[in-house]
Amino acid sequence: MSAPLGKDLLGLEQLTAEQINLVLDTALPLKEISERTIKKVPTLRGATIVNLFFEASTRTRISFEFAEKRMSADTVNVGAAGSSVSKGETLVDTARNLEAMRIDMVVIRHPASGAAQFLAERIESNVINAGDGTHEHPTQGLLDLLTLRDHFGTIAGKKVCLCGDVLHSRVARSNIWGLTKLGAEVAVCGPRSLLPNAIEEMGVKVFDRIETAIEWADALNVLRLQLERMHAGYIPSLREYNRVFGVTRERLDRAPRDVLILHPGPMNRGVEIDSDVADGPHSVILNQVTNGVAIRMAVLYLLSGNTPQLAEAAKGIA
Ligand code: CP
Repeated sequence: MSAPLGKDLLGLEQLTAEQINLVLDTALPLKEISERTIKKVPTLRGATIVNLFFEASTRTRISFEFAEKRMSADTVNVGAAGSSVSKGETLVDTARNLEAMRIDMVVIRHPASGAAQFLAERIESNVINAGDGTHEHPTQGLLDLLTLRDHFGTIAGKKVCLCGDVLHSRVARSNIWGLTKLGAEVAVCGPRSLLPNAIEEMGVKVFDRIETAIEWADALNVLRLQLERMHAGYIPSLREYNRVFGVTRERLDRAPRDVLILHPGPMNRGVEIDSDVADGPHSVILNQVTNGVAIRMAVLYLLSGNTPQLAEAAKGIA
């Protein structure tokens, strides 16, 4: 069995449109497994997967673990606290020690951009990037694409604006790569202090005013203000940010069409997004979370094609 995604999933920058569509198409039937009373298929039986989470996570960590368990893999969770990383062990030494115990895949979240690639180049196991610094968060990008495709039927031609703290957002970068490859029109909107230099070179429009972005867009993906990564005065205050760039009910009510609302989470309610928008009729924020499990199942399944002993078991998938 060939490996349709290659050995690792490090970012959407490296994937073709065909590979992205393959993940989305694979995820679609897998959604049904999570609706069953007994949420389990034997697809990854015998595979051992290590989830290395060196940064906080709720959605990504738990949905990877659900995806692995629903596909019958054996999983181990390792965090910085409580492991020998806290004693100064390097990332590669940790991973090599895990490989010595015969693992098949590593899912890694790390505060350093490039950590997933660094690891992938040094170990034989499949590596899945679950968010590296401000670089990429490919499975979040894929689940956002699936959520948009579920709603609109297609991504091509849709106008999607990433709003807020684009500078610190690995989600924004994965979305921009994925959306542009699938033919969407993509924009970003935020204060100039929170937009990367030369972001236009990624093929996106730039809006300085949230009102203009809302008027243009079919969908907004509202990004969290990453206060923990801000070591300088990027914004005057949270209240001022909400006043100028907040996605509010009043602003959406003035839009010429219904605008779909996404947010990767965790949300700062009352800062980048108001509660009546997050919980409103056009929000698909919890659909994103549901799709996260299916996307991660699809990625694990497709990468497992690279592991010969798993290929036969993988054929049994619905
Ligand atoms: N979207 C996302 O990565 O959320 P977590 O940080 O909770 O995993």
